[in-house]
Amino acid sequence: MDRPGLTRRGLFAGGAVAAGALAATGGYLAAGRDARPAPGPAPAAEPFHGPHQAGVATPPQSHAVFLGLTLRPGTDRAALGRLMRLLTDDARRLTEGRPGLADAQPELADPPARLTVTFGFGPGLFTAGGLDHERPLTTLPAFKGDALEEKWSGGDLLIQLCADDPVTLAHALRLVAKDARAFATVRWTQRGFRRPTSSQPAGHTQRNLMGQLDGTVQPADLDASVWISDGPSWLRGGTLMVLRRIRMDLEKWDEADEAAKDFAIGRKITDGAPLTGGAEHDDPDLDAVDRFGFPVIDDAAHIRLARAADPALRMLRRGYNYDDGLSASGVVDSGLLFACYQADVARQFTPVQRRLADADLLNLWTTATGSAVFALPPGCGADGWVGEGLLG
Ligand code: HEM
Repeated sequence: MDRPGLTRRGLFAGGAVAAGALAATGGYLAAGRDARPAPGPAPAAEPFHGPHQAGVATPPQSHAVFLGLTLRPGTDRAALGRLMRLLTDDARRLTEGRPGLADAQPELADPPARLTVTFGFGPGLFTAGGLDHERPLTTLPAFKGDALEEKWSGGDLLIQLCADDPVTLAHALRLVAKDARAFATVRWTQRGFRRPTSSQPAGHTQRNLMGQLDGTVQPADLDASVWISDGPSWLRGGTLMVLRRIRMDLEKWDEADEAAKDFAIGRKITDGAPLTGGAEHDDPDLDAVDRFGFPVIDDAAHIRLARAADPALRMLRRGYNYDDGLSASGVVDSGLLFACYQADVARQFTPVQRRLADADLLNLWTTATGSAVFALPPGCGADGWVGEGLLG
């Protein structure tokens, strides 16, 4: 079989490209003619221990999988404690590039590739543990236009895994899923991706699958907007997460011209600048009117409706694109795994989502098909485990 690219020269060239990409992310360095990885700095690892769980403020890795679990009947508070000890041990090891206990494929644990493993407790976990009095959140209210599917919604326990290497991620997912098996069944898995730093340097806003720069406006102070500082002590240093699966009708989006695309958001698709001028990170002028007296940023534009009146009430958005393949006729099933983190869902996410649901121009092309909420406990120290303040 004669496949193009499978020549000796092609293999060398491919190897050099791959090694260059790794070097760019602080991994291996190319050495010698055959570009074999040379001993270099240790592959990047994200610290697991700390006051907050990793995977929220962590610069987004290029791959993510969100795993939603349903607890098996009889998984009480003591069992939840055992489960979280086990999963914390897995997370601690895997994020350091070490295999889990009884890891069937220990050779896949290294490199850790900035793996983060983040745990969230859904409303049902509190009920199962007899802890409803500690429950900091309820399921979200219904929003206009939602077309929620059971198979993408809810969940008692969330395990969010993110890494720059899809092989590392697949291995980590398999290990935690196996260890959770005696306690829970899988409700959904949702996989997402972003551009890796090898194709777009960190610090630049990413484009979503509609082509927009998405993630420009974020909270200025995570202590004020994201991390919980009051309420029950087990939750201090934690945060609340909303995950929405939002399908994009990209065939219809393709039919819109550039002006319509800009109008729907209130920003230019080319460079993300507000329609009232300036550059991406300049403030939009929401009072500006055109020569006919109409607002330059429309009343139904996404950024006008999504804007928090008080900047301290902004949510941290850390979404991932998803792409679930093509239909027989060649139409993509793709969209956004919209993940946001905030100290108070009722004051941050819900009012914004309500305004968007009622009027956002973007609704012409987007539909929410999944929805879930989780309380993310704080991080833990080297001898601790995630959730011990609640379940210990
Ligand atoms: C597929 C669905 C969505 C798309 C394609 C989308 C896209 C965008 C884009 C392009 C921007 C402007 C750049 C930026 O600041 O990031 C933006 C801003 C924003 N979006 Fe979305 N978005 C979606 C869904 C949502 C949802 C569900 C929420 C929350 C309920 C939300 C909340 C926000 C917020 C808070 C901002 C910043 C507004 C500001 O203060 O300027 N978005 N979005």
